[in-house]
Amino acid sequence: MPMYHAMGEVPRKRHTQFRAPDGKLYVEEVFGLEGFDGPESILYHRHSPARIKHAQPFEPRPIQEWVPREWAHRHLRLKDFPEGGDAVSGRQPFLYNNDITMWYVRPTDEQVRFYRNGMGDEIIFVHEGEGVLHTMFGTITYGPGDYLIIPRGTIYRFELAQGSTQRHLVLETPGHFTIPKDYRNSFGQLMEHAPYYHRDFRTPETLEYHGEEAGGSHELLLKVNHGFQVYELDYHPFDVIGWDGCNYPYAFNIWDFEPKAGRLHQPPPAHLTFRGPGFVVCSFMPRMLDWDKDAVVVPYHHSNLDSEEVLYYFNGNFASRRGIDLSSVTLHPSGLPHGPQPGLDEATLGKHWTDEAAVMVDTFRPLKLAAAAEAWDDPSYKYSWSAGAEGSDDGPMTVE
Ligand SMILES: [Fe+2]
Repeated sequence: MPMYHAMGEVPRKRHTQFRAPDGKLYVEEVFGLEGFDGPESILYHRHSPARIKHAQPFEPRPIQEWVPREWAHRHLRLKDFPEGGDAVSGRQPFLYNNDITMWYVRPTDEQVRFYRNGMGDEIIFVHEGEGVLHTMFGTITYGPGDYLIIPRGTIYRFELAQGSTQRHLVLETPGHFTIPKDYRNSFGQLMEHAPYYHRDFRTPETLEYHGEEAGGSHELLLKVNHGFQVYELDYHPFDVIGWDGCNYPYAFNIWDFEPKAGRLHQPPPAHLTFRGPGFVVCSFMPRMLDWDKDAVVVPYHHSNLDSEEVLYYFNGNFASRRGIDLSSVTLHPSGLPHGPQPGLDEATLGKHWTDEAAVMVDTFRPLKLAAAAEAWDDPSYKYSWSAGAEGSDDGPMTVE
């Protein structure tokens, strides 16, 4: 949860009369979590946010599971993911459980419909692409490396910068993405040891108020009950004259994450960035490697006894690691040990720096593969630790 923020006009006291210049009362909406006990914002609308002109038929869209023949380490080549669709409709799920779903999209089309996720929070990690995220809380200009954190219920629309190639990794949880309490004091402020500070989090820039426009026709795509519901509106959904509170969309650029290094290996919790129910999101960024003269700078082998590790590689030289490329995803599932591939431990002794960057999602309950993942599966990855597999002298350190 970010800190308190306010934009536009709000009345001096909440729950009091607040009128537009024409004398009409603005419609107050408390936008909050946990039944009035969790983070909330208060918005002032020109129209009732419950008003709809027409409800189209509901379309169920359950995720189809792919059950591969073997339970093994897995590599998905998202490098070849096809472009197409808009930032919402073009999404394809590839991994999911009851706590989190991971999607990928390379949008090319302008998003015509406004979108509201009624099922969960979203984090959109922008690997490539520039543009403007328009939301009912205001605009957020985005670019490569941005995490866009969008609370459930936020109405938004992506505007893609002309000519920009886009790659978005989308995380969705029915819970709430939080800035971990590990980094905050009892007052909520980020502490000195946190890998980021409040000024690194970008709040909405410009409030877009369309409340005075009469009539019109707009479509709102609502995600609910594992499907899509389209509402036709006779008003613009960005009709908020002002808002304040602690529940709103914001951005954080991964290059503003301050990585931690140590004399000996720092495990993934050192890279913790966001937390949610049943998972963590970590940022592996370019950093010094372990400086003890006897250090083994690649991670030790370890067993994921009760968690699944997903890595998305987005920067650095991965060419020499067998098959791994930019936009690759690896899944190291529970129950299996994993670690550096053969030869890496010896070959990297004495190295002092890694320029590789990756986003990691660790889940504490098993993940399922979605049907779309089969098309990008690299069946050879599970054998990459085997006898005869080639070593590498320049492989990634981020084989957590
Ligand atoms: Fe690991």
